[in-house]
Amino acid sequence: MTVHFIGAGPGAPDLLTLRGRDLIAASPVCLYAGSLVPEAILGHCAPNARVMNTAAMDLDDIMAEITAAHAKGHDVARLHSGDLSVWSAMGEQLRRLKAADIPFTVTPGVPSFSAAAAALGAELTLPGIAQSVVLTRTPGRASSMPAGESLTNFAATGATLAIHLSIGNLDQVVTDLTPAYGADCPVAVVYRASWPDQQVIMATLETLHAAMDETISRTALILVGRVIGADGFDESCLYAPDYDRRYRPMSAESPWASWSHGDD
Ligand SMILES: C[S@@+](CC[C@H](N)C(=O)[O-])C[C@H]1O[C@@H](n2cnc3c(N)ncnc32)[C@H](O)[C@@H]1O
Repeated sequence: MTVHFIGAGPGAPDLLTLRGRDLIAASPVCLYAGSLVPEAILGHCAPNARVMNTAAMDLDDIMAEITAAHAKGHDVARLHSGDLSVWSAMGEQLRRLKAADIPFTVTPGVPSFSAAAAALGAELTLPGIAQSVVLTRTPGRASSMPAGESLTNFAATGATLAIHLSIGNLDQVVTDLTPAYGADCPVAVVYRASWPDQQVIMATLETLHAAMDETISRTALILVGRVIGADGFDESCLYAPDYDRRYRPMSAESPWASWSHGDD
């Protein structure tokens, strides 16, 4: 028996990996975080599977379901939205599974920041503008931020920021970021990226408050940085005609000329 943690993606049911789909279909039990996992993904469950929404359950309840499945030798598909590596609460479940000696696997999913960038048709790292993306959040009712992880600290780097779980703190986000990024810095708010009711709001730090749709109160990402909407950036070396590289040596003297695919 194994618990399969599966990233269910940002919302569109077809943004699920094939591995995730097959594990869901093969597991007699499916526990899903119902607040964000789309119901359509549950269509991959076997017809007689035990399918439970964990949105109203606590960690003990979830562990009780898993332990009962373990006793019967039934695999569990455990679905969380987006990818599991950020804000999934997988860590605490894995700790309990390890303590109980219950095997698990982890199958990644498409994270919401990727879906939001796709909605913008944007690359978040552009040469000469930003080469880092910070996945962060602001403090919430249930979660404080560790010392040092403030928006003002991240802003000092000039990196592209993908700010999660923070649509309710928008004014504070603007206040914290404006000194470093400038009032004219582009911002995109992407609501329910990849869902049928997806919305994109483009603004600057200065105009964001006025541009916001006040009905958006959750499931939105705030992307901030000069990469958004930029077109005055350098081309990368990757496809430059004169760039000597492993897959396209420029001459017989190139250090890459004798490289073969078996070398690394
Ligand atoms: C609990 S976190 C889950 C993050 C998820 N594990 C991921 O990989 O993106 C929920 C937050 O992620 C963001 N989010 C999740 N799905 C989203 C979507 N489809 N569109 C925009 N933001 C989304 C929002 O900021 C939301 O408040």
